[in-house]
Amino acid sequence: MNGVIFFQTKKYEEIREFYVSGIGCELWLEQAECFILKSGNQLIGFCDRDSADTNGVITFFFDTKDEVDDMYRKFKSTATSEPADNAKYHIYNFFAKDPEGRNIEFQYFDHRIAEYMNGDELLLTRRSVRKFDDEQIDRVTLNRLFELCRWAPTSHNCQSYYFRIIGDKSILQFLSETRGSSTAPIGRAPVAVAICVDPGLTKRPEQDGCIAAYHFILSAWYFGLGTCWIAAMDRDDVKEKLEIPKEHYIATVTPVGYPVKRPPKAPERKEVSWFLRDK
Ligand SMILES: Cc1cc2nc3c(=O)[nH]c(=O)nc-3n(C[C@H](O)[C@H](O)[C@H](O)COP(=O)(O)O)c2cc1C
Repeated sequence: MNGVIFFQTKKYEEIREFYVSGIGCELWLEQAECFILKSGNQLIGFCDRDSADTNGVITFFFDTKDEVDDMYRKFKSTATSEPADNAKYHIYNFFAKDPEGRNIEFQYFDHRIAEYMNGDELLLTRRSVRKFDDEQIDRVTLNRLFELCRWAPTSHNCQSYYFRIIGDKSILQFLSETRGSSTAPIGRAPVAVAICVDPGLTKRPEQDGCIAAYHFILSAWYFGLGTCWIAAMDRDDVKEKLEIPKEHYIATVTPVGYPVKRPPKAPERKEVSWFLRDK
């Protein structure tokens, strides 16, 4: 289920301009005398009416305090408070007003929050994470993560892939040393996960395995867990250590854990025209 919260407005055009150009919301849908805006996971609608709803607070939250500060610099003239830590809610925030006098809040959650990302944000913010904090991943989160991983596509729906969770420190150490700096991230994570395929169940072990691995990586990020594709782990010494049959295929062994800090923006990507080719 999804939803939209609607407000009445008397300043239809001005409000649209403010939220789209000023704040950076996307115009998601226009319907008769209403428009609906999207910002991350949030949908807010405004309808042209004779009176305005100005109660409540519209909150935009960001991944870092710096982004809140950036918004403060932008909206200083209408801000009703300065950015500050709020110990009661464990947030960092400030308030401002929209052109109709509605309260808007810009904030950063200074603690771990439950999953909220929608598709585009998931794809745009996933990064390779190579440094992790010591926090263990609880069973409930892991179960929910693997529940999502059941839905990866496989050839003929053969479901040939499986996961091996590695928490033993000495094995993590061994894996982290197999290929120097390329495998080092495994040694910094509380666990690693090997994504494997039984070739007896599929004619396409590499494809099933790589798709399942990326499905795992995206699912993990949905729960705020960082991962990193580690290449060339389909090795005999790795299989022996993990007690995986020699003929099975290992797509990758990824470290898994909460990132020490929110990863910065992704390294530059080329324009769409690079990826879309006529010949
Ligand atoms: C096939 C493949 C092999 C990779 N091998 C490694 C690796 O062995 N070690 C590592 O730290 N990162 C590895 N990476 C991660 C890439 O360096 C990373 O995806 C790329 O720099 C883009 O950064 P991003 O994932 O943060 O967007 C690999 C990624 C892919 C897709």
